[in-house]
Amino acid sequence: MEDNNTPQTEELQINAASKSQGETAALQENLVEKKKRGSFTGKIGFVLAAAGSAVGLGNIWRFPYLAAKYGGGIFLLTYIVLALTFGFVLMIAEITLGRKTGASAINAFKKLNKKWAFLGVLCAVIPIIILPYYSVIGGWVGKYFFTFLTGSGASAAGDSYFNNFISSPWQPLLFFAIFVTAAFVVVIFGVEKGIEKVSKFLMPALVLLTIGVTIYALTMEGSAEGVKYYLLPDFKKFSIKTVLAALGQLFYSMSLAMGIMITYGSYMKKQDKIESSVHQIEIFDTGIALLSGLMIIPAAYTFSGGNPETLGQGPGLMFVALPKVFAKFGTVGGGILGTLFFALVLFAALTSAISLMETVVSIVMDKFHLSRKKSSIIVYVGTLLLGIPSSLGFGVWSAVSVGGMTILDMFDFLSNSVLMPIAALLTCVFIGYIVGCKNITDEIELNGAFKFKKFFNVMIRYVCPICIAAILVTSILDVFGVFNI
Ligand code: PFF
Repeated sequence: MEDNNTPQTEELQINAASKSQGETAALQENLVEKKKRGSFTGKIGFVLAAAGSAVGLGNIWRFPYLAAKYGGGIFLLTYIVLALTFGFVLMIAEITLGRKTGASAINAFKKLNKKWAFLGVLCAVIPIIILPYYSVIGGWVGKYFFTFLTGSGASAAGDSYFNNFISSPWQPLLFFAIFVTAAFVVVIFGVEKGIEKVSKFLMPALVLLTIGVTIYALTMEGSAEGVKYYLLPDFKKFSIKTVLAALGQLFYSMSLAMGIMITYGSYMKKQDKIESSVHQIEIFDTGIALLSGLMIIPAAYTFSGGNPETLGQGPGLMFVALPKVFAKFGTVGGGILGTLFFALVLFAALTSAISLMETVVSIVMDKFHLSRKKSSIIVYVGTLLLGIPSSLGFGVWSAVSVGGMTILDMFDFLSNSVLMPIAALLTCVFIGYIVGCKNITDEIELNGAFKFKKFFNVMIRYVCPICIAAILVTSILDVFGVFNI
């Protein structure tokens, strides 16, 4: 890593990094620090950083359980089609918006059109909703890591282990609090860069381990049926709900429609190619999600005796299926494997939670003109408080439910299936009709041709907004029981 920033990009990056443009002192400090430390140079650095935010629980925990729930192969197909179309277009749009304005989401929209400042605010609300419940799941991963580490991995393979754990009042809260505290410590001391460096080694380790476990899981008796369920689309299972679930998952997994990629774009240098970077981030993120599905779904299929009902058991899928796979390696082997695996997943979850928390902290700094320290403490306490209902919703507060959803599912639905599609829809309208596609495509073409320019223009002006609006309206009507789809 070396530092060969141009003054112009340097300024852009500092703007984005401080995200609080009024604070000159912070800017200066940042500049000095940046000179001392150096920064990622070139496209690789950008791609790795963005992929680091994108790859997390969304890929390893959320994708497999949604794929299992929404019919396996048909969900997979829908997801891939959406990733190649909506995902590509939206990621290009957000990164370019960020690079063009050199600002984080909350300011980027305002900079281009004052009346659209509200969209920055909407994007800012989404990570605030996600962070607490993301951390509850992070706490579950922490618990499993601890269980395997202390040699009790075999008990985690028991049928009721997971449900007993999430329904107990204190334990999930304790692990949730430890998880949030870990993220908080990193954010308040501003040592994310150190974490990023370690993640360059740990992320590939996670990928290798996942490949290894997948290969083993696929050799287990009865897994072939599960592979078929996962890979072969059954068109009878297709419904608008499949599309909404896949779309929400796409946004969540690629950190889209919540301003994150706008901020990352603002760090990007003018000489780096946006289009090919987006291809790489997408391939990386989708690859890990697909692989995680292949690791978990056939295994779950085997252990549930091919019963799709148990397979679709929701958020617990990874936690129920994998310990059973590890148990096949015996107490010692399974213990080591489980400890390693959950340690790496915990790390991936933590890096994503840190980037979420960092985003929320910068929003609080910007909005209330508070110091980094005060903002971090407010966000920390707020996250702890907001996460409690999501955690208790599986136990003492399990009676609270809306449309059959637990409290955690409700937050998940609100952010992924309502607010993110709205933010994505408005971003399309903003670019297609307010800023104009040309403004965006010109920025992309600063260094070379934009191969998918026509496709981008048509998608962002017509296909994306119309489809997202249609999906959104039908699914909301469905939740309120206006009609059944
Ligand atoms: N994309 C992450 C995942 O798939 O787990 C979730 C996420 C992380 C969203 C960081 C937003 C973010 F800032």
